[in-house]
Amino acid sequence: MQIEPCGRGGDPVHRHLLLAQHRNRRAGTIIKPISVASVISSATPVDASLRDGHLMEGCRPCNGQQGQVRMRMHGRRVAITGGSSGIGLETARLFIAEGARVALLDLNGSEAAASALGHGASGILCDVTSEASVQAAVEAAGQALGGLDGLVNSAGVSLWRPLAETSYEDWRRVHAIDLDGPFLVTRAALRLLRAAGGGTIVNLASGAGMRPLPNLGAYCSAKAGLVMLTRALALEFAAENIRVNAVAPGPIHTPMLERTLTRVPDREAKMQEFLARVGMGRLGTAEEVARAVLFLSCAESSFTTGGVIEVDGGRVQI
Ligand SMILES: NC(=O)c1ccc[n+]([C@@H]2O[C@H](COP(=O)([O-])OP(=O)(O)OC[C@H]3O[C@@H](n4cnc5c(N)ncnc54)[C@H](O)[C@@H]3O)[C@@H](O)[C@H]2O)c1
Repeated sequence: MQIEPCGRGGDPVHRHLLLAQHRNRRAGTIIKPISVASVISSATPVDASLRDGHLMEGCRPCNGQQGQVRMRMHGRRVAITGGSSGIGLETARLFIAEGARVALLDLNGSEAAASALGHGASGILCDVTSEASVQAAVEAAGQALGGLDGLVNSAGVSLWRPLAETSYEDWRRVHAIDLDGPFLVTRAALRLLRAAGGGTIVNLASGAGMRPLPNLGAYCSAKAGLVMLTRALALEFAAENIRVNAVAPGPIHTPMLERTLTRVPDREAKMQEFLARVGMGRLGTAEEVARAVLFLSCAESSFTTGGVIEVDGGRVQI
């Protein structure tokens, strides 16, 4: 993918030095100081843009001219797990509106959701707990989109259950979907992100992965693991121009939350329990979370990696 100059951003030459040094390190060569002149002279066609402007990964024109709408995701190709429902679906909708093409990777309803979204969306069956399914789905996403510049790991399940009533199978299932899933999908997507010269990964963590909640132990621990995985991978991939961030939502009105409300004996009491923890006193919407995912997936967050944005209306400590 052609990386284009953008009128904003950090020091392009310094960034290229980092990339060149990183390539040397990966190739196992001795790392020598690299001069700015050699960087400029060895510039590939993609790198040539560095001479004229600032490099922002996957940044297509974001300096909209008068009378033009600025598309923050113009030309970007993004795979979204859990893209058939809730936050993943709303993210897909927003990304398409901002000029992206998306592949929805989901265990349920991915094709129906993609055709409802219309132009710019592909639906691909994927079980994020299966290594083989993930590998095939990510490859299919790369083929459908002609490459990959971004990944959003939104597939997830929650489980409100006291520990004493949590079977080992329950525990494993929550961790398989919420933590192993992002690991498998990220690993499978790396080749494509590297081939694109960099990209973005956004993980849907949770406020429950930042602060504990009772009767939610399996989910809290899986999401806390995802937060730490986000931070570790951000450092691991920093020199490759792959940014890794997380969004940690509070209670958001999606099918997941609805399922929780229908499973408890007293829906109203559970709703009040959710609301009591939110400073703003209401549930969030999937679109409010998708807007944070958008920020972390576009060039507006070009110097943010390893970050966690909490979208929770202000978490009240109780
Ligand atoms: N809704 C909330 O209140 C809330 C709060 C904090 C964090 N989150 C996180 O946000 C993410 C999205 O949640 P949501 O509310 O949109 O949920 P949702 O249930 O609406 O959507 C989740 C999607 O994941 C898919 N999925 C489940 N298991 C899968 C698997 N094995 N392989 C592939 N896809 C699978 C489902 O089919 C579904 O389409 C989740 O990771 C969730 O933990 C949600």
